[in-house]
Amino acid sequence: MDNINYTTNTIKDGADPKLPSDDGNLLDVESIKQDFPILTRETAGGRIRYLDSASSSQKPVQVIQAMDDYYRSTHANVHRGVYRIAEEATHLYESARVAAGRLIGASHPGQEIVFTKNVTEAINLVAYTWGRANLSRGDVVLLSEIEHHANFVPWLMLAEEKGVELRYIPMGKDYNLDLTNIERLADGAKLMAVTAASNVLGSITNLRTVSAVAKAAGARLLVDGAQFVPHRLTDVKSIDADFYGYTGHKLLGPTGIGILYAKRELLEEMPPFLGGGEMIADVRLDGFSTTEIPWKFEAGTPPIAEAVGLHAAIDYLGKVGIDKIAKHERALTAYAVNKLEDHFGKDITVFGPKTGSDGDRAGVVSFKFADIHPHDVAQVLNEYDVCVRAGHHCAKPLMRCLQVPATTRASFYLYNDEQDVDALIHALDQVKKMFG
Ligand code: ALA
Repeated sequence: MDNINYTTNTIKDGADPKLPSDDGNLLDVESIKQDFPILTRETAGGRIRYLDSASSSQKPVQVIQAMDDYYRSTHANVHRGVYRIAEEATHLYESARVAAGRLIGASHPGQEIVFTKNVTEAINLVAYTWGRANLSRGDVVLLSEIEHHANFVPWLMLAEEKGVELRYIPMGKDYNLDLTNIERLADGAKLMAVTAASNVLGSITNLRTVSAVAKAAGARLLVDGAQFVPHRLTDVKSIDADFYGYTGHKLLGPTGIGILYAKRELLEEMPPFLGGGEMIADVRLDGFSTTEIPWKFEAGTPPIAEAVGLHAAIDYLGKVGIDKIAKHERALTAYAVNKLEDHFGKDITVFGPKTGSDGDRAGVVSFKFADIHPHDVAQVLNEYDVCVRAGHHCAKPLMRCLQVPATTRASFYLYNDEQDVDALIHALDQVKKMFG
């Protein structure tokens, strides 16, 4: 790839996001909303109150525009053509990889980032390749009780197939992972696979401690960063992660592109995942050899326009500042939890760590509301254009720990503000009137 002489990049740099007049650390959310066409859509109730970013974020015009420009001016398949637009497309695709690696502090972004479909595929890739090559009967994989199904099922499949033993770090009373007995649980583990932030509770895992225990036990560390990377500064080196997954559509980018970071030496030794075009060096009638990393893991035509959109999303976040976003979300989450609890008292149970304490907490607020089924709650909220998720959130083991079948969940991002929370509370008042 290095010998391609890239020519002009015809994709325009996205316009700058709407930044605050700059009064320090605050985001000018009303201006930021203007970058998100869907948030200014007129509805019967006025405006969409989008409180479901943990499920998927909305997209700023800069991302939409970058993908539109790409299709209008540059699209061709990558790594194949020698003509101008094919070289440009290859350049854009590979620059997105470098940006995706730099975002999380990868030492060798051009080699250590594999594009997948989503985090689920990233974790499955590790389970199918590294897992099948390195784990056998009796080996221990340590997970936690609060994982998303994406970080349970691939390991449950491996447990069924190979007799691998699964152990679980429990959830503590404060809804954070209870790391009290982690050394004992990690004894004999070959892999520890944990979420960086819970998609239900907002708990943020103390990855420094988990990593230290993993390294002392001689285990590899895999982190599911789907709910963390879009909201907090991430550095895979500082936690010595071996594998780290995150996804484009939760960080203002398009659906259809996920990111697997893996240390270079691990990717080198791992067998390939999907077989087909692009991942080979040679194919004969009696066998094949694989190409270099990371392309060895990217069979077939990859998500090119999605990579362009992802790059634009990373640039957008960089211009706003992830630290500012984190600060904004912390304040908004504290506002939401305090207001919900003050307003609804014993009618509401919020599942998640206390806000305002020393520990960090993500902008995800799951709750049980006056014994009304979460699907009913969400349906009435919809009447007021308040978008929340109701259900088990792909975390059924956690639902069992919480002793509920489902929760209602509001989740925040840089484009949410106190008015969105107030709209949620107003709509919940109506839910209560209707079912109370
Ligand atoms: N994992 C996403 C969520 O929590 C889909 O909603």
